[in-house]
Amino acid sequence: MKFGHFDDERREYVIEQPETPWPWINYLGNEDFFSLISNTAGGYAFYKDAKFRRLTRYRYNNVPMDNGGRYFYINDGGTVWSPGWKPVKTPLDHYECRHGLSYTTIKGAKNGLEAEVLYFVPLKSWCEVQKVKLTNTGSSSKSFKLFSFMEWCLWNAEDDQNNLQRNLSTGEVEICGSTIYHKTEYKDRRDHYAFYHANTPVQGYDTDRESFIGLYNEFSGPQAVLEGRPRNSHAHGWSPVASHYFELELAPGESKELIFLLGYVENKEEEKWESKGVINKKKALREIARFDTPEKVERAMSELRAHWDRLLGVFSVRSGDEKLDRMVNIWNQYQCMVTFNMSRSASFFEVGIGRGMGFRDSNQDLIGFVHQIPERARERIIDIASTQFEDGGAYHQYQPLTKRGNDAIGGNFNDDPLWLILSTVDYIKETGDFSLLDELVPFDNDESTAKPHFEHLKASFNHVINNLGPHGLPLIGRADWNDCLNLNCFSKDPNESFQTTENKSGSTAESLMIAGLFVVYGREYAQLCRQIGQKEEAARAERHVEKMVDAVKQHGWDGDWYLRAYDFFGNKVGSRENEEGQIFIESQGWCAMAGIGQEEGMVEKALDSVKERLDTPYGIVLNNPAFTRYVIEYGEISTYPPGYKENAGIFCHNNPWIMIGETLLGRGERAWEYYQKICPAYLEDISELHKTEPYVYAQMVAGKDAFKPGEAKNSWLTGTASWNFYAISRYILGIQPQYEGLLIDPCIPAAWKGFEVVRKFRGAVYDIKVRNPKGVSKGVASVRINGKEHAGNLLPLLPSGTHQIEVTMG
Ligand code: GLC
Ligand code: GLC
Repeated sequence: MKFGHFDDERREYVIEQPETPWPWINYLGNEDFFSLISNTAGGYAFYKDAKFRRLTRYRYNNVPMDNGGRYFYINDGGTVWSPGWKPVKTPLDHYECRHGLSYTTIKGAKNGLEAEVLYFVPLKSWCEVQKVKLTNTGSSSKSFKLFSFMEWCLWNAEDDQNNLQRNLSTGEVEICGSTIYHKTEYKDRRDHYAFYHANTPVQGYDTDRESFIGLYNEFSGPQAVLEGRPRNSHAHGWSPVASHYFELELAPGESKELIFLLGYVENKEEEKWESKGVINKKKALREIARFDTPEKVERAMSELRAHWDRLLGVFSVRSGDEKLDRMVNIWNQYQCMVTFNMSRSASFFEVGIGRGMGFRDSNQDLIGFVHQIPERARERIIDIASTQFEDGGAYHQYQPLTKRGNDAIGGNFNDDPLWLILSTVDYIKETGDFSLLDELVPFDNDESTAKPHFEHLKASFNHVINNLGPHGLPLIGRADWNDCLNLNCFSKDPNESFQTTENKSGSTAESLMIAGLFVVYGREYAQLCRQIGQKEEAARAERHVEKMVDAVKQHGWDGDWYLRAYDFFGNKVGSRENEEGQIFIESQGWCAMAGIGQEEGMVEKALDSVKERLDTPYGIVLNNPAFTRYVIEYGEISTYPPGYKENAGIFCHNNPWIMIGETLLGRGERAWEYYQKICPAYLEDISELHKTEPYVYAQMVAGKDAFKPGEAKNSWLTGTASWNFYAISRYILGIQPQYEGLLIDPCIPAAWKGFEVVRKFRGAVYDIKVRNPKGVSKGVASVRINGKEHAGNLLPLLPSGTHQIEVTMG
């Protein structure tokens, strides 16, 4: 069952009924100011950091679902309703939500009155614009009352929930015309305030929640709205809110537009006050003046659209399959930008207070957006590398606001360092900018330790070879990519976190996943060294990589697949010998991508085992058989019920590793089959089961052992976004940036007749037409550049302008 449809022309998903199987959300903002917005206008806004600078309050996992947002209430002759259906939930005559690229419109209609709200964060601004258009579609004139409403968060989202003994006494506001200022703690340690402004004079307002809603009422029925009478309340402590009140009248056919602005301001210490106790509003007024007419708002919207045209213009495909095209051209790239901005911090599954920027996550996310915003990718690499330790190890996370490592989350995840090689190499291949390697980058943010960025890569590489176990395989540390395979920090105490329990000392648990990862990125590192003339370093790296290949062949092969690990006690993990968890996906993916034992048929065998043991109608599960009992020495993994999360869930992030492995073997059908299985646009018709948004990937889909296989969770913030874009664009469609040019090496189902890709690369436009007359899956027979025959499938760097590239497979 579907709950809406794609409007590809406008790059929107159109939700046709408010009761989706889960709130279907969107993100507003691209730089500093961000908002999450659901299809019923739930969600919240923050400046840079969802934990430390939360502007509006939101209640996660509440009853009913999705509580708190930027709500509008209409009281039309006693009938009270909201354009987004929630919170009032009065049945609407018409409802539609359009989630577009960094904007959302929500439209509701009732009794001849239509209310359409456009929400977006303009580029280069610190505010969210809400443009409300009210239209009288009936034949007689209408008078009604409109209330806006949102609730302030007292800045630190965690403290806001916990520290009530203090917080219920600190709230402060200032009211000035139709602007409500939230200035809690501005008097002392904060140099920032927020405001909620309306461009039309108000007939009343409220700033105290209890006065507006009534202590025992709900968001769905605020007393002030029900009675059609604002209280003009002034909050002192308790819960400050912001609500504007208007009495409006519309003639038949008449429309009125009101603009609301939710903004954030920072002032220098000496400029904080206008007069004693009165905040300096200069910056707020300046921001307000930028968006105070519908024309100015429209201009900001067209700038936003142009911004997305630019970003999405770098890579686009025409394949003849509209689902594939809309995922590659619109939604998958969009999701990659959202993961760039959010990492794993704020979604409807991530509460914005737990996790900052992950070291491994952020490096991997980068391969999904580096072609769109290479300059910001460069900054991001430097930010990440600046938190690395001198021995190559890393904090697992850092805070976006401070850019400092955050050791509350634990460290010693031994895969972390290698992902820095991935992001750096990918950035240089995209841009040709080797100067990044010379950039001075500190360790652990201590400027006195700064070294050229290249030294960080060397430290990453060495970190693996300095941490080898008894089989010559990489020690796993706290865990590798699989956060829940805690081979050294298992515990029986339910009050201990798996992420931060003390690592047991003297451990020799080893990871085959890191082994494969090391072979792939160790080779990349060596190749990079050759590019910059460091031949000896390259040769040294290659020697270590070859040793690792041997170690995997010797100690990492289980007969039909690669082992997953050796545990704390030296026992095999992911082996036929185990009772449960006999085969794991991660080591199959990485050892296959590394081509370890390919000549001996290992890769093929391993991937066939994946097909046989892990594949399901909804994607590939992480391990099999699922764990049904708690295996203490494996840590968190077996705490999950079978079929969920890392315990035999379909953890979508790692499915593309198998797709890529299949393309290296030339098996285009299989790679494509796996791609389609987890790709959201192909799941739209089963939205009821799938539950999360049909336009973005979810981290996890319940596996075959679960109660409801196919049900997804954790949409939006997942490495699935970047890896699937990487798999489809670079390995299935096969358009791969290299140091010297653009490699064209597709691997597609034999039945495909071809496809077209427009790729902007190093200042030129490659207009690529791939034909497949012989019906092969892989192999390029000939290439023509602007009509001229070209030897091989590596396109050289071309001068600016558009170039016609004809590729014939065969
Ligand atoms: C989550 C984490 C990621 C980890 C994965 C597997 O998605 O963000 O870092 O690799 O889970 O455990
Ligand atoms: C839990 C989750 C895992 C995630 C980790 C991050 O272990 O199961 O997916 O990566 O938390 O802290």
